[in-house]
Amino acid sequence: VGDALGDGEIEKRHARNDGIEHGVALVAQRLVQVEGVTMDDLANDIQEILLSESQIQQRVCELGGRISADYAGQNPLLLCVLKGGYVFLADLTRCLTIKHDVDFMAISSYGDGTESSGVVHILKDLDRDISGRHVLVVEDIIDTGRTLAYLLQNLRVRQPASLKVCTLLNKPSRREIHLDVDYTGFEIPDRFVIGYGLDFAGHYRNLRFVGVLKPEVYT
Ligand code: PRP
Repeated sequence: VGDALGDGEIEKRHARNDGIEHGVALVAQRLVQVEGVTMDDLANDIQEILLSESQIQQRVCELGGRISADYAGQNPLLLCVLKGGYVFLADLTRCLTIKHDVDFMAISSYGDGTESSGVVHILKDLDRDISGRHVLVVEDIIDTGRTLAYLLQNLRVRQPASLKVCTLLNKPSRREIHLDVDYTGFEIPDRFVIGYGLDFAGHYRNLRFVGVLKPEVYT
């Protein structure tokens, strides 16, 4: 493309790209301000915001309303899959209007990279028996489906009264194993996303939005 353009046009394009990047960084900075402190080192790593804080909050409360209606009188157990699910769980439960319990499992499949290793480890199991309970698994993201397929198989053996899945994000284009997902916040394209519980190398989980990192951050 560069060969076909004059120097002036190339400069204009660079300026325009710089402007877009600057704009994203400014928006990201505003969205990661906590009590007046701007987390520049996080904001500067963001290339694009896919889902804003308000989009997420609205959708999470819609899901909370549906779950409250569907599980009325059933005292479901919300099973949060750590670590990524903790932010979603915290907001989701505060949108529930029914009695419920929460418990946590820690499962790791990714290590510090951006691709699934395919190896699933249970790092922390549930505190209590779930036989006869209505269990709703709360995930931040379903990608290949390997983690959840393993988890559901493991949980079914424990004979819950019902077993359903709620995920904030779903990447259907990446699926390797078919899964029935009962509640989905957003279907997203095949991008490596961070924020709202999702990490890269342990960081960015605290961002209030879901975004995409600049490639130079992870290459
Ligand atoms: C992420 C996410 C899911 C899993 C989805 O967890 O929380 O559990 O990957 O990927 P899959 O559908 O391809 O199996 P991760 O292993 O990154 O751990 P974390 O939640 O502790 O960050």
